[in-house]
Amino acid sequence: MPKNYLEAATEIAQEAGKILVEELSRPLDLHYKGDEVDLVTQADKRSEKRIVERLTKYFPDHAIAAEEGTGHESSSASEFRWHVDPLDGTTNFAHGYPCFCVSIALAQRSTLLAAVVFNPFYNELFSAARGEGATFNGKKMHVSKNSTVSTSLLCTGFPVRNRKASPNLQYYGDFTQRSHGVRRDGSAAIDLASVAAGRFDGFWEFGLKPWDTAAGVLLIEEAGGKVTDFAGNPYQLGGPVILATNRLIHEEMRAIALEISQRVPAAPPRPSESA
Ligand code: IPD
Ligand code: CA
Ligand code: CA
Repeated sequence: MPKNYLEAATEIAQEAGKILVEELSRPLDLHYKGDEVDLVTQADKRSEKRIVERLTKYFPDHAIAAEEGTGHESSSASEFRWHVDPLDGTTNFAHGYPCFCVSIALAQRSTLLAAVVFNPFYNELFSAARGEGATFNGKKMHVSKNSTVSTSLLCTGFPVRNRKASPNLQYYGDFTQRSHGVRRDGSAAIDLASVAAGRFDGFWEFGLKPWDTAAGVLLIEEAGGKVTDFAGNPYQLGGPVILATNRLIHEEMRAIALEISQRVPAAPPRPSESA
């Protein structure tokens, strides 16, 4: 039995990561969730199955919210909930681009307690426990010290569903012109972990789900960064937009986002609109 929640999450993320690497060298078994852009593979399913089995064994009373739907609510209405993305970056995985990860976080009501983001291809492990700081491959990690957007490297992502309804292209263009650049790497969990590790100075995205962001949010908070919505309110899991920075460029990014939103309403994509 692991010593604590973080140790359990780490052990399980590494096991799931092994499955992803194994699946990467097999012929791709690809399916679509609805249309031809929202992909799901055998790797997503096998990874989730293992994570849910292992979490359930260690913590039978905890609820599990997992992306592919095989999690469960606890029978005793536990206040503990695991947020699981068994493969974040499925599109990258399906194309053999090794930017993908397992993302696992535990929340007690609305407080995040433990977080792990693991990229098994590069063996990169980002982890954090509330009040205990964040680490990258076992060493303390900290957000960057860059204090202006003009000298920052930023990152964002685009939704796979309702693409035409997303306002993000406008934000992407504007921030690209005002910074050293905006990367679009295709794994929100790795994007957030990269802010925590000081590789990126800031990240924003519309319409992410709790399993995409839960681990990354705690990594950034414990690494000294800041996570809100564009209005500056604390970010709520599953909220319409996330802004995550090294803290130093937070207000400048917010001001720029506000300026852009006056031209383009920052509305979340509506489910009724087509891709
Ligand atoms: C996706 C990735 C991507 C983000 C999408 C997510 P998935 O998750 O995190 O970076 O832009 O919005 O859906 O589908 O690969 O788990
Ligand atoms: Ca995801
Ligand atoms: Ca996923």
